[in-house]
Amino acid sequence: MVDTVNARVYATKNDLPEATRLEVIRLLNQRLADSIDLQTQCKQAHWNVKGPTFIALHKLFDDINEDVEEYSDLIAERVVQMGGVAEGTVGVVADRSTLVDYPIGLATGAEHVAALSDALAAFGRSVRLGIEEMNDLQDAGSADILTEISRGVDKWLWFVEAHQQGA
Ligand SMILES: [Fe+2]
Repeated sequence: MVDTVNARVYATKNDLPEATRLEVIRLLNQRLADSIDLQTQCKQAHWNVKGPTFIALHKLFDDINEDVEEYSDLIAERVVQMGGVAEGTVGVVADRSTLVDYPIGLATGAEHVAALSDALAAFGRSVRLGIEEMNDLQDAGSADILTEISRGVDKWLWFVEAHQQGA
């Protein structure tokens, strides 16, 4: 087991109450694990997809990965701004991610579209819940970051799902 307890909290002149910041740090580190897991799933799909739609999906999955990398960065740096420690190692992510493990044996475009759309939808749901949590904590900045991420994930889910909707 990985030690997933927040290592420490730094003093900051940020005026959000410490109790709020502690909860924001905890919740955002959970979303960070999901986001990093999603990055690895995009790359897994990017590398292994095969078939007549190879080039379109190979490029699409890498474009999604680039944006998801940005999402991870936004979340991780918000954690640190709150005085926390961003917990983004592979060990922590494997322990904490709420996403289903990406199946290793997939090959066709249809298989990867199905798996990655599942992952994007699951991440989209967890981020949307996160917006509500940040609103409840009255942290508009974190809610805004998650809202931006949510918009992006909704867009990428559309891009991926469009491959199964025209058939
Ligand atoms: Fe590549």
